Amino acid sequence: MFFKKKKITASAERNIPTHIAIIMDGNGRWAKKRSMPRTAGHAAGSKKFKEIARYCNKIGVKYLTVYAFSTENWRRPKEEVDAIMNIFRDYLQDSANFKSENIMLKFIGDRSGMPQDIAELMAQAEYDSKDATGLKVYMAINYGGRDELVHAVRDIVKEGISPEEITEDTISSHIYTKDYPDPELIIRPSGEYRLSNFLIWQSAYSEFWFSNVLWPDFSPEDLDRAIDDFNLRNRRFGGV
Ligand code: FPP
Repeated sequence: MFFKKKKITASAERNIPTHIAIIMDGNGRWAKKRSMPRTAGHAAGSKKFKEIARYCNKIGVKYLTVYAFSTENWRRPKEEVDAIMNIFRDYLQDSANFKSENIMLKFIGDRSGMPQDIAELMAQAEYDSKDATGLKVYMAINYGGRDELVHAVRDIVKEGISPEEITEDTISSHIYTKDYPDPELIIRPSGEYRLSNFLIWQSAYSEFWFSNVLWPDFSPEDLDRAIDDFNLRNRRFGGV
């Protein structure tokens, strides 16, 4: 008797992570390789986000969190920041981007730091998509993991919760992601092996998957590879 090595494919029965988080990195290098301005890389990155969100929805991922703009990204040249803001505006104004896909859209991050009109578009998009029953997309905009914890601690203090009462659950229920589970799989393309202040509390037990592919070149097949590798991991959560 022999055992056949179990082959996992996109179509075979496999465990689809409930929550996947992606650091959409490599837009600038993608553009540079093509002698294009960095802003063209971000436009391509935005297109790629739509494609991957659609694919996640199709294969039954429940939550997708994407790192779109960090609290540190304001340090980039004004021209680049303005271009990224315009990409957000275009995306949010085109509500078909999420409505027709049955995708719920929410934002995590400090929206008080966003231009007023974009903050309003974000609120509108959340309202418009609130009844969607498909994939829930959480877009991290003006997001930083440390900043998130600072806000959580401030809120806990303001609520008068005493030090003895504070547990891990207290923190988890005061961070931006309080309404949804921690990511099981975090993907970072573009050959960087850092978390860059993304979901630092939530990633305590996440599986990490890295690839050299630049984000605008990332494909549904790459996502399948990440999920296949995830299926081969042995998650023990500190046990044996
Ligand atoms: C990191 O690549 C990317 C960003 C800081 C911006 C990401 C923004 C988008 C993908 C557009 C998002 C828009 C929507 C609607 C989701 P990088 O610029 O650091 O690339 P590099 O490391 O090659 O320079």
